[in-house]
Amino acid sequence: MKYTFKTESIGSYACDILAVGLWQTETVSVKIPALPSSLNSAITTELNRRNFTAKDGEMSLIPILSEGKIKHVLFVGMGEKKKFQDTNLRSMAARIVKQANSIKAKNVTLDTSIISALKKAVEGSQYLTEGFNLGSYQFTSFRKLTQKDEEKKKTLTEVYISIKDYKQQKDLEQGIEVGKIYSAGTILARDLVNTPAMNMHPGEMVKVAEKLAGRGTGITCKVRGRVEMEKLGMHASIAVGSGSVHESKFVHLVYKPKKPTKNTKKIALIGKAVTFDAGGLNLKPGDSMNDMKIDMAGSASVLGVFKALPDLAPNVEVHGLLIAVENMPGGRAYRPGDVISAMDGTTIEVENTDAEGRITLADALAFASLKIKPDYMIDLATLTGAVIIALGSEITGMLGTSPDIKKALNTASRQAGESLWELPMHPHYRELIKSKIADVRNLGGRPAGTITAAMFLEKFIHDIPWVHLDIAGPSYAEKEFKPEAPVGGTGWGVRTMLNYLKTF
Ligand code: BES
Ligand code: ZN
Ligand code: ZN
Repeated sequence: MKYTFKTESIGSYACDILAVGLWQTETVSVKIPALPSSLNSAITTELNRRNFTAKDGEMSLIPILSEGKIKHVLFVGMGEKKKFQDTNLRSMAARIVKQANSIKAKNVTLDTSIISALKKAVEGSQYLTEGFNLGSYQFTSFRKLTQKDEEKKKTLTEVYISIKDYKQQKDLEQGIEVGKIYSAGTILARDLVNTPAMNMHPGEMVKVAEKLAGRGTGITCKVRGRVEMEKLGMHASIAVGSGSVHESKFVHLVYKPKKPTKNTKKIALIGKAVTFDAGGLNLKPGDSMNDMKIDMAGSASVLGVFKALPDLAPNVEVHGLLIAVENMPGGRAYRPGDVISAMDGTTIEVENTDAEGRITLADALAFASLKIKPDYMIDLATLTGAVIIALGSEITGMLGTSPDIKKALNTASRQAGESLWELPMHPHYRELIKSKIADVRNLGGRPAGTITAAMFLEKFIHDIPWVHLDIAGPSYAEKEFKPEAPVGGTGWGVRTMLNYLKTF
């Protein structure tokens, strides 16, 4: 999306859509200086006939059939003025994209009525940009070339921003830049999640990670294969991937700030990277396997964060860890009843090969806590179906040991427009993952499945302050639950993590 500032008066340049913001009211009244007063009163009549009251999310599109440079006016409901928050702008912009695309408009002008609603120019324009860039997201990689082009041709590509002065432009420009960075990270995560598992197996994940590193980025990438993982003692993860023809891989990304100080903190971000979860020998039944290409969404978000880091340049050292495996049945597959050992020597009794994510995270968390020794660590994982039963498909479950991280993530996620809710580490439930023959078992039963999964992970954190985000619900939108997150991978977590990292 291209963003262009316009100081010349509206109506003096051609635009497909003029978007005008209105505050909620019983009867709307329209006064667009660029249009003759007779037209303004006709539009006022029409909007009221449509019962348009400018509620938040409400929109009404009016074609301007007379001669002139403005082809349509889109009235955008901004809700009640006292309830308005800058974060509303994200969904608002995404809705504008949809309206624009529905009439094949190529550009839209944001009227000063919208720009002057921003409480903070920098943040507000960041959210607007995210709304435009994320709301126009399409996953076309697997369409016919001609069709790809056709789809592109019919979409919004330019936003004109009507402003009063240069000072205002400076702030808005700054926000737009951040919005672009956040969107690019989110879009990478979406693309990775949406790519079929046959094209996004562990070797492909490695390629994506390696491309993010290199000169000038501040990012390095180290990749280990099966033999090196065995040497590190990651037998648990190797077991999970042993049913697949694709070799398991361990990716370690490091971002270092240009000018670190002795107070620069070290954070580890760990993403579940099961590139396809068939369930293993405990094969997933029927339809429940259909969407399991998404089981690497946690690591997709970590990669999305790394895409953004060089541009955002926060003063924090970030380690990204992903153990990429494919969980398949087969003659070499690990079995229920096997006892496998993780990197820190903890033995795991496998009770169900479909509870595989926690096994790979065990090795990654142990590596982080023992080798990297970060100040804080956070994992993102599509870990349990149970979290969808508990919180539905729009909310992430948050558990862990660090009140500091939880508090910071609550704020970060609210600003990012990504919902999360804390679940309790209820001490009694630790009983549920005790094994008769090993240090821990990988199953805690159906009740409180998300909590017992987190308690399994807790065994591997070695006193490092830690938070686990179970993103099984919102990482993938079966139905569009927000205008800025079309059906498919959502990139949940990229923006929350970037907000969090920015606080250091
Ligand atoms: N990848 C799944 C969890 C999942 C389910 C993610 C639905 C996204 C949507 C995970 O590996 C899994 O299979 N979990 C099992 C755990 C059970 C065997 C204890 C589950 O949730 O049923
Ligand atoms: Zn599974
Ligand atoms: Zn899984």
